[in-house]
Amino acid sequence: MYSKTVIDRFQNPRNAGGMHGANAIGEVGNAACGDIMKMYLKIDDNGVIENAKFKTFGCCAAIASTDMACDLIKGKTIDEALKVTNKQVLDLLGELPPHKIHCSILAEESIKAAIQNYYERKEKELKKSVKKPINYV
Ligand code: FES
Repeated sequence: MYSKTVIDRFQNPRNAGGMHGANAIGEVGNAACGDIMKMYLKIDDNGVIENAKFKTFGCCAAIASTDMACDLIKGKTIDEALKVTNKQVLDLLGELPPHKIHCSILAEESIKAAIQNYYERKEKELKKSVKKPINYV
């Protein structure tokens, strides 16, 4: 049985959809159930998450978990967002059946995957901006 919050978040997700201008996109999946989560973040120059959206191809617990995870990380710094756990998501959702706990873990992993993608993009930008040294030989 699902809590009222899970059902509400599943039926009326606040953060569903893609995002124009996202500078971090993370995708994770669960091989066992085949569900996929995609997290979109807009992170400002100070490392604060301005906005978070998601697309989840999965069960109602996965959709509710990702939606709640988006709310949890909005306004947080990258470091704070990395500390968000599936347990926090579960506490806000009002628990999930034991066989659906992995759905909340997927939400936690999608945050981490998006932040990893953010750093990968930053590294690419940095490499592009570094000019090659002149060889005077
Ligand atoms: Fe796999 Fe929910 S059943 S994410």
